[in-house]
Amino acid sequence: MVPKISIYPDYNAMSQAAADRVIALLTKKPESVICLPSGSTPLGMFRALAAANQKGEVDFSKCIYIGLDEWIGLGAGDEGSCRDLLDKDFLKPIGFRENQIVFFDGKAMDPEAECVRINKIVESLGGLDLIALGIGMNGHLALNEPGTPWDTYAHISELDPLTAEVGQKYFNKPTQLTRGITVGIRHILESKTAILIGAGAAKAPVIARALAFPVTAEFPATVLQNHFNAEFILDAEAGSGLRV
Ligand code: PGA
Repeated sequence: MVPKISIYPDYNAMSQAAADRVIALLTKKPESVICLPSGSTPLGMFRALAAANQKGEVDFSKCIYIGLDEWIGLGAGDEGSCRDLLDKDFLKPIGFRENQIVFFDGKAMDPEAECVRINKIVESLGGLDLIALGIGMNGHLALNEPGTPWDTYAHISELDPLTAEVGQKYFNKPTQLTRGITVGIRHILESKTAILIGAGAAKAPVIARALAFPVTAEFPATVLQNHFNAEFILDAEAGSGLRV
């Protein structure tokens, strides 16, 4: 299976295209289960979704939002946490109700039990209709770091030093990042639609490697080559390492 590759001239066009995939799904199935990432890449998509919501072009009121991942030790209200970024950039601007949001609590006393909780919810909802993913500079998807087995659902991950270093960009002060809690590769593989969004020249080599051989757990994004319905939505810079 080869992921579909869609390349757009710039970040705004890429972001609009990613938003359009979410809008199309919710138009067809308003009660969809959607899992969207935090981070820098999705900001334009969130802006496009908020604009469409304002204009009444999409209805989020019946969908369920599943959080992709979180840093262990951090949670709602902690500046820079995944939940904090999602609240500010997406969930509050759209007006999600608390009962539509399922999110890993990075401060849970028992993180393993927190994984079980999320796994049960996702299973009871029938899995993810759509998962959107950024890609890390080490090829990670969500916080599935290099080496993560592909048969895992939600789990705790030991962070790669590169993830801990790159992750500093989300915080306004140095923050120790050692572990993450994340949906698993199995959730990604079982999602009905998976989109990977990528922007900027720095991502070009990792995007190219994600779509090349070998398909290997050492570079988690290559797993999307095994997904039955995956699409890479890229701006021209992120797609510049591909021959398409
Ligand atoms: P970014 O993060 O969108 O902030 O580049 C992507 C990722 O690490 O998955």
